[in-house]
Amino acid sequence: MLSWDELDTPETATPVHRAASDAAATQASNADTQLDQQAVAAVDSARHVGNDDSDAVARAKAALDQLDIQEGLDELEGSAARVNVDAKQMINCRADLNQLVPFKYEWAWQKYQDGCANHWMPQEVNMTADIALWKNPEGLTDDERRIVKRNLGFFSTADSLVANNLVLAVYRLITNPECRQYILRQAFEEAIHTHAYQYCIESLGMDEGEIFNMYHEIPSVAKKAAWGLKYTRSISDPTFNTGTVETDKELLRNLIAYYCVLEGIFFYCGFTQILSMGRRNKMTGVAEQFQYILRDESMHLNFGIDVINQIKIENPHLWDAGMKDEATQMILQGTQLEIEYARDTMPRGVLGMNAAMMEDYLKFIANRRLTQIGLKEEYPGTVNPFPWMSEIMDLKKEKNFFETRVIEYQTGGALTWD
Ligand SMILES: [Fe+2]
Ligand SMILES: [Fe+2]
Repeated sequence: MLSWDELDTPETATPVHRAASDAAATQASNADTQLDQQAVAAVDSARHVGNDDSDAVARAKAALDQLDIQEGLDELEGSAARVNVDAKQMINCRADLNQLVPFKYEWAWQKYQDGCANHWMPQEVNMTADIALWKNPEGLTDDERRIVKRNLGFFSTADSLVANNLVLAVYRLITNPECRQYILRQAFEEAIHTHAYQYCIESLGMDEGEIFNMYHEIPSVAKKAAWGLKYTRSISDPTFNTGTVETDKELLRNLIAYYCVLEGIFFYCGFTQILSMGRRNKMTGVAEQFQYILRDESMHLNFGIDVINQIKIENPHLWDAGMKDEATQMILQGTQLEIEYARDTMPRGVLGMNAAMMEDYLKFIANRRLTQIGLKEEYPGTVNPFPWMSEIMDLKKEKNFFETRVIEYQTGGALTWD
C-alpha cells in the first residue's frame, strides 16, 4: 500500500521557504479557478442541444435545465452545511443523513467492518454427509429429525421477519448514517441466513411447503412469529413517525422485541440444539451453517443493545419506570415462549440435553439480556448448563474467527467443533 509520508517533501520554516510556498499556493488556486471555468464551459457545451440530437435527447437535456439542486435541503436543519458531529443523534436527527462522516458512533462503523470481514455464503458449506445421513432411515432418531425440521421451520421464516422489520420499519427511523450502514449490512446477512435455511431444506429434499409454512401450522413456532410481528405492525406503517414520547417508545419497544428477544432469545434453543448435533458429528453441514449464522447474530444482538442504550442516553425521559417494566415483561414473555418451544422440540432427552437444561440456559440468557439494557436479573443464581455455547460467542474468539476466516473462506474448510 502507498504511504503518503513517502510522497511528502520535508518542510522547513525559513522565511524564504514560506514565501515560496505561499506563491505556490496562489499558483495552485489560480490553476484550480481556471480549471473550474473550463469545466463549466465543457458542461454547458455537453448540455447544448446540437443538430445531431434527436427530439428525445433534446427533451432530456431541456428537462435537466429545470433540476433544482436545493431539493430536499429544506428538510434539513442547517441546510447545505457540513455535518457537525454534535448534531448527530440516534433518533429524530435533522442533520444530513447522506453524509457518513464525521462518525459519532465509532462502534457502529467498527461493527459494519467486522460484519464485512465475516462474509460467507451458504454454498461454501459441504452438505454431502448431511444428505447421506438424512436419507438413511437409520441415520437419525425421530427426536433428532424433529429438532432439524422444527428449527429449519422456525428459522426459515424468522430471518425474513427480522429482515422485513429492519428494511420496512427500523431503517427509516434510525437517523444516523453509520448505524444505517450497519443495518444495511445486517439486512444482507439476514438474506444470507434465509438463503442458508433454504439451501439446507433443498439439499435434504424436505417438503418445502411443510417447512416454510410451519410458522402458521405449529403452535410453538407460530407463537414466536406472532409475538414478533405484533411489534412491527405500528412502526412499519409508512405514516408512522417518531418525535413524540409515545412514538419514540414504540420504536424502542420494537428494538427490544427484535434485538433482545427475537435475535437475542428466540434463536438460542435452536442454535444450541443444532450446534450440539454438530458436536456429535451429526448434520455437520447444517450445523456449520448455523455456526456461521450464530456469529452474525451475536453481532446483530450487540449492535442492537448498543443502539438501545444510546437511545436511552440521548433520551433519558423515555426510560421511565413504566418503560422499564414493559421491557422486562417483553424479555420474560420471550423467555417463556422459548421455554415452551424447548419443550415442544424436546419432549424427551436428546443429544445429551433436555428441556429442563434448556430452560436453565434460557433463563441464564434472559438475565444477560436484562442486564445488557440496564435492567435487573429476574432469574437470580441461574447457571449456564452449556458453557461451550458462550465460548462460541465469546468476543475474543469472534475476533480470532475473523482473523482465520480469510483462509477458511478461500479453502472452504470446515470449522472445528472443539
Ligand atoms: Fe439472521
Ligand atoms: Fe440477525
